[in-house]
Amino acid sequence: MEKRAEKRRRIVLVPLPLQGHITPMMQLGQALNLKGFSITVALGELNQVSSSSQHFPGFQFVTILETVPVSQHETLGLVEFLVKLNKTTEASFKNCIAQLLLQQGNDIACIIYDELMYFSEAAAKELKVPSVMFCTGSATNQVCSCILSKLNVEKFLIDMEDPEMQDKVVENLHPLKYKNLPTSGMGPLKPFLDICREVCNKRTASAVIINTTSCLESLSLSWLQQELEIPVYPLGPLHIRASANLSLLEEDRTCIEWLNKKKPRSVIYISFGSIAHMETKELLEMACGLCDSNQPFLWVIRPGSIPGSELLPEEVSKMVSERGYIVKWAPQNDVLAHPAVGGFWSHCGWNSTLESIVEGVPMICRPFNGEQKLNALYIQSVWRIGIQLEGEVERGSVERAVKMLIMDDEGACMRERALGLKEKLKASVGIGGSSYNALDELVNYLETECS
Ligand code: UDX
Repeated sequence: MEKRAEKRRRIVLVPLPLQGHITPMMQLGQALNLKGFSITVALGELNQVSSSSQHFPGFQFVTILETVPVSQHETLGLVEFLVKLNKTTEASFKNCIAQLLLQQGNDIACIIYDELMYFSEAAAKELKVPSVMFCTGSATNQVCSCILSKLNVEKFLIDMEDPEMQDKVVENLHPLKYKNLPTSGMGPLKPFLDICREVCNKRTASAVIINTTSCLESLSLSWLQQELEIPVYPLGPLHIRASANLSLLEEDRTCIEWLNKKKPRSVIYISFGSIAHMETKELLEMACGLCDSNQPFLWVIRPGSIPGSELLPEEVSKMVSERGYIVKWAPQNDVLAHPAVGGFWSHCGWNSTLESIVEGVPMICRPFNGEQKLNALYIQSVWRIGIQLEGEVERGSVERAVKMLIMDDEGACMRERALGLKEKLKASVGIGGSSYNALDELVNYLETECS
């Protein structure tokens, strides 16, 4: 008993304050809190989350004096924003941890940081606090980052002009091909690869946590376990265990009442996450295709997601009012769990992908950038629970995809497979499952190696 009391039990979490990143980090915090750890969350001065202490009453929140508001990712692009954020936050984060150590009498077992908040490592190293990296994306995405981090930019660009090289399967990682490495939509290649190097080559973290599970990504996980030579803990999907959610936008729950009036598995739910933008032309094609499919649809159109237009174009509002329901932000997990939902048209962010599988909902994939394209590849070709809309969005292909998913045998088979995966995921977080065990192993690691 005495030994236990001496153990350092506080964990500092460093989330990236974007919805798709902060959500799984807070869920991880909850899971560790239930295992007896005290949780401190470090958020930037300009990136406070107003409702956070309300949703997570036992957590302590501390402020890092950083100078980059998260909204800058919209103007700078994600890569440039991340470089700037990491550069400008390192020193103040060090001060923040030094102060915390004084206040807590050195009682910090470990810093767990979002892989993209790699500035955390310098403070951890200097102040001799162990650090663990948390990947909020897939294991396959982490594999790709490792591969990309070792590439020579000029050579890679030349190699990728060769169609044979593009179609080459990455060793032991079928069906991942070199052309699938998630570089598109990330801006110029060099700064993006520099970030991969920061995350992979310069990493000093002593372990890695990934929000995935072995039944989804066993090949990639084996690859990482061999390559990284430090413990890897695949303990997801974290949202299954979570009791609180941290939504940065207000959820419109009226859509649940709307869903209550619809037939089972008849509705297509459409959401492109918290970052993606759509052109008005694409929006119109989507609206036409959805209306032509004659299926009811629930559509999330985030404020600001259509550049240059604050309001939804009138023709779209008019067109969709009969069959569709539009909200600015939905309670996504409740929507996916609703019996009326028959399919999810998604941008394939990793959280949305996991959330859809956990509810056994088949998908239409419309990825926007590299990592999402990777997830779409797995949804379509590995798990075979969805189809990808290729090329420009056009009303005819939208109509066909929706009808196929909701009404055809092919869609029914995808749903069957999604339901099969749902059971496997639930089993993996249940007692004795692989993610359940990985969480216990992580706790053991934090108690023995970080104390
Ligand atoms: C980003 C990247 O795009 C994604 O690929 C990466 O894995 C994480 O960071 P985002 O684009 O927002 O995230 O997508 P996603 O990972 O799917 O996360 C979105 C989250 O917002 C999900 O947890 C989803 O449930 C939630 N959401 C989305 C809502 O709660 N309501 C909505 O209306 C839409």
